Amino acid sequence: MYMAKKCKRRFLKEDLQRMDKFIEEFLYSPSSGYYMVDANQKNDYLTAPQISGLFSDFVSEFMVSKAEEDQAEKPIFVDLGGGTGKIAISLLKIIENSERFKFAEVYLLEKSFKRAEEALNENPSIKYIDNISEIPEDRPVYGIANEFFDAFPPRVFKIKDRKIYEAYVKKVNALISIEYLEVRRLPQFIKGILFEAHSYIKEGIVEIQESAFKFMNLLKKFESFHMLLFDYGYEFPEIKRFPEGTLVGYRNHHALNNFLELKKPADITCHVNFSLLKRWLSESGFRIVTFVNQGSWLIDNGFLGFFEKRARLMDQLTFLSESAGFKKVVLPGYMGDAFKAIYAVKSPDPK
Ligand SMILES: C[S@@+](CC[C@H](N)C(=O)[O-])C[C@H]1O[C@@H](n2cnc3c(N)ncnc32)[C@H](O)[C@@H]1O
Repeated sequence: MYMAKKCKRRFLKEDLQRMDKFIEEFLYSPSSGYYMVDANQKNDYLTAPQISGLFSDFVSEFMVSKAEEDQAEKPIFVDLGGGTGKIAISLLKIIENSERFKFAEVYLLEKSFKRAEEALNENPSIKYIDNISEIPEDRPVYGIANEFFDAFPPRVFKIKDRKIYEAYVKKVNALISIEYLEVRRLPQFIKGILFEAHSYIKEGIVEIQESAFKFMNLLKKFESFHMLLFDYGYEFPEIKRFPEGTLVGYRNHHALNNFLELKKPADITCHVNFSLLKRWLSESGFRIVTFVNQGSWLIDNGFLGFFEKRARLMDQLTFLSESAGFKKVVLPGYMGDAFKAIYAVKSPDPK
């Protein structure tokens, strides 16, 4: 018995890595991480800014118009987790043509400099940061986060027979597999979330993006922050749709549920739990103004008229590709209903 315990402890230390730490390293290790070594992941997945140039321009115009409405002084516009910086470039184009925002700045928050590099070389006025704490807290911030929160690796728990287990990745030479170890001690906020999950599912997997929670905590220091975010995910009552969890690996546009089979480099992502995201935003002082499907958000805010106006100036080829992009980001069946939009505001002025 003693031997078994001792062996298990040694095994734990040397061969097991908690799932979120494993994914963090897989995606962001400076020497081999998926996002760190390859600048352009077009071959694996496509995001709305890659599909539709009009999408980036439209969401950027929306944010700039909010800053105008607020008569914001020296606002900072941020492309949060901006990747290749398509939204940052759109934001820059708009403020460069605006007399009102001569003193505004555009930041690109991106962990991987390599991904951001080309945008930064071509647009030296965009300020690169890799940590949200680098943004001055006393200036009004207008941030756009497209598919940012799905890139935060989750801790993965299993509830079974009223016990809680946590997923670890076991590496033996080149072979990797998942082990679930029973856990007894957990931070209070994680216990609370698991308790809540248990009210929806008796057994199953619960993913908790603790690193997203920590990121949200960093937003507490800002006096004024407007956040527009788009992502795919679910709310707590829907958790039963995912008894095996939502983690998935992408390579060459193929989704692999058993993502451990992926050869590096490849993307690993999870669905966002919007109930938690909204709660964490509220706890950081935000008011949730809008929470709707991406398609509805775009249409309600005038994307169709924006498209029609721009279309008049397009040649036929551009029109065809932008029409296809428009459909993908708006219509149900692709991104329109699978993705959700949150617009959340934190402001000293309660208007
Ligand atoms: C799925 S990509 C989306 C990129 C871009 N927003 C788009 O829509 O094409 C997520 C990006 O967030 C970045 N990222 C993830 N966690 C981050 C963090 N804590 N700080 C800054 N960037 C981060 C990743 O490096 C990656 O480029």
